[in-house]
Amino acid sequence: MKNILLAACSLAIATSAAFADPIADRQALMKANGKALGSIAPIVKGEKDFDAALVMDALTKLAEDAQKMDPAVLWPAGSDTGGDTTSAPAIWDDPAAFQAAIDKFQADTAAAVAAAPADVEALKVQFGAIASNCGSCHEKFRIKKG
Ligand code: HEC
Repeated sequence: MKNILLAACSLAIATSAAFADPIADRQALMKANGKALGSIAPIVKGEKDFDAALVMDALTKLAEDAQKMDPAVLWPAGSDTGGDTTSAPAIWDDPAAFQAAIDKFQADTAAAVAAAPADVEALKVQFGAIASNCGSCHEKFRIKKG
């Protein structure tokens, strides 16, 4: 009986450890951001025809991902090291500024969904607003590699 309990416990620990990997989780979320933005970039550049459904899917995905950016979950204390992370110390040194950057990203992505751009010109405005969040947050809160 004791052994079964012990086995169950270590299984539970192993399982939760597999899920509680904030570095992998935040990098997966960021990759999804890159994919969503990348899917509409060719439309903005005029390389692809405007596709309202594709655009709304991408903007909705970005807004959903922005909502998932909870620093307590994805950037908990101690997750500044211990993995292949490019998250900068400023995240933990100045949490208010990091939260403000997340708040702005959430507001701008939600505004883009609400605006529901119906043509390339309208999309360009929303695309520019969203993409500036990526750049300015990375500038301050991400360590540049090489
Ligand atoms: C509020 C801050 C913030 C915003 C906004 C933000 N990012 Fe990031 N991003 C980060 C941080 C911090 C990392 C480093 C993650 C790590 O390695 O721990 C990162 C990493 C990444 C990565 C690399 C992921 C990997 O596998 O290492 C990509 C790609 C990325 N971001 C794309 C985007 C795109 C595209 C946007 C805008 C649509 C965006 N990000 C918006 C903070 C942000």
